[in-house]
Amino acid sequence: MAFEKKILCIGAGYVGGPTMAVIAQKCPQYQVTVVDIDPVRIAEWNSDDLPIYEPGLSEIVKEVRGRNLFFKTDIGEGIRESDIIFVSVNTPTKDYGLGAGKAADLQYWEQTARQIFEFSESPKIIVEKSTVPVKTAQAMERILRSESNNTRFDVLSNPEFLSEGTAINDLQNPDRVLIGSMETESGLKARDTLVELYANWVPRERILTTNIWSSELSKLAANAFLAQRVSSINSISALCEKTDADITEVASAIGMDNRIGSKFLNASVGFGGSCFKKDIMNLVYLCRYYGLDEVADYWEHVVRINQYQQERFIFRILNAMFNTLSGKRICLLGFAFKANTGDTRESPAILIAKKLVEENAAVVISDPEALKNARADLKDVSGQIDYIKDPYEAVRGCHAIAVTTEWDLYRNLDFERIYQDMAKPAFVFDGRNILNHPKLFEIGFNVFPIGKPAMTHF
Ligand code: NAD
Ligand code: UGA
Repeated sequence: MAFEKKILCIGAGYVGGPTMAVIAQKCPQYQVTVVDIDPVRIAEWNSDDLPIYEPGLSEIVKEVRGRNLFFKTDIGEGIRESDIIFVSVNTPTKDYGLGAGKAADLQYWEQTARQIFEFSESPKIIVEKSTVPVKTAQAMERILRSESNNTRFDVLSNPEFLSEGTAINDLQNPDRVLIGSMETESGLKARDTLVELYANWVPRERILTTNIWSSELSKLAANAFLAQRVSSINSISALCEKTDADITEVASAIGMDNRIGSKFLNASVGFGGSCFKKDIMNLVYLCRYYGLDEVADYWEHVVRINQYQQERFIFRILNAMFNTLSGKRICLLGFAFKANTGDTRESPAILIAKKLVEENAAVVISDPEALKNARADLKDVSGQIDYIKDPYEAVRGCHAIAVTTEWDLYRNLDFERIYQDMAKPAFVFDGRNILNHPKLFEIGFNVFPIGKPAMTHF
């Protein structure tokens, strides 16, 4: 069958893989190819054991792989054959040179621009899917036009708003699809081509078109606003612990004001994930670059509160357990940065595990999907760390449990049985407020939720 259009995605990660799987599912008339510099990742995408865990993903990949979705390593061929190229490579925080710790590291992005330039022989629409600083499209255009080349390139911004764990639903039913373009004749024509692609399944009124810089900035701003909500509720949780107020009650009281809304008000051990911190620091860097120091300070505090929340959690464990963890066994229930993913990037559990080991505790890590990544994250830590998937096995002989990821599995555990198997006095530190605290207390546990009074038997 001849395909109407050939789409290429460069970068087969958490965004590239699921996004292209859904485009292939919704648009059988298009050929969708995903390429990556990492041949192992591509081999995994072509196997039964996909490189990422995302509910619903493997079913879609099985349905469309080999039909109109292909995972390949030949980037040059992919570029030559395609009409539309999505770029969804990683854009981590720079860890060297000027702007280290804040600016986005655009080396992968720039490498992609050069590859596109080198291999293109026909007009292309280039779609920025990765999250990038404002004005990146300009840099991309400059690279693509740096030498005389008869090929016509139009660069669009189309940031991705999916959340891990719900990526498939977010892609199939997005709140909005944002497309930014240059306001030139060919820019607008390219924009319309991308609108037509999404209109295969997204209602038109949810496809928002803007100028290209608004689109780039909206992605950073959206993540900053979301992270700010988490830091806001977490900052109030600290005050709750001092005043006997209850953060769940406060969150539902303020969330019922529909100007505030109830979503994203779950106090926690802090936000993780590959993007919130990176994107805020990128925003902070941009503000400082433009001399907007007050604005930069404002957003930087969102990250500082997040760090503070993680440190507070560790301090609470130490303080509650008589100021020594030496020789004690502590089980982390959950290592992923949130439930329903195996992703551990920037997971608060990483810092917590490291600090507990520094206190000479023996740490047991349990998680249904993230143990492989946890092992990689902690490979350089010297100390006792065990990785045990089964939560009942994991908690055996432990002095304390710290809930670090809100997996549903942990809500329904048999805590009577767990209590019997633990060393006494037994502690629970619920970093996600997902457990039934009065019941745990009744069983015999000393219970330390986030933003609520502790319940102890002392
Ligand atoms: P990722 O690290 O999972 O995947 C990126 C992939 O790009 C890797 O497999 C890497 O090998 C590949 N790559 C790097 N340079 C390449 C090159 N020159 N040619 C071919 N492949 C190359 O990253 P991710 O989580 O998918 O994020 C990608 C982008 O999307 C980032 O900018 C991120 O901020 C943004 N984003 C991520 C999410 C998310 O939930 N993870 C959501 C929205 C937006
Ligand atoms: C986030 C955004 O929600 C997406 O829109 C965006 O596309 C993505 O970042 C990105 O750019 O990478 P994600 O990081 O996958 O998605 O997950 P979230 O659901 O936003 O959670 C982020 C962190 O905040 C998690 O650690 C989560 O546990 C924490 N969180 C979230 C809370 O602690 N409390 C809440 O109420 C909500």
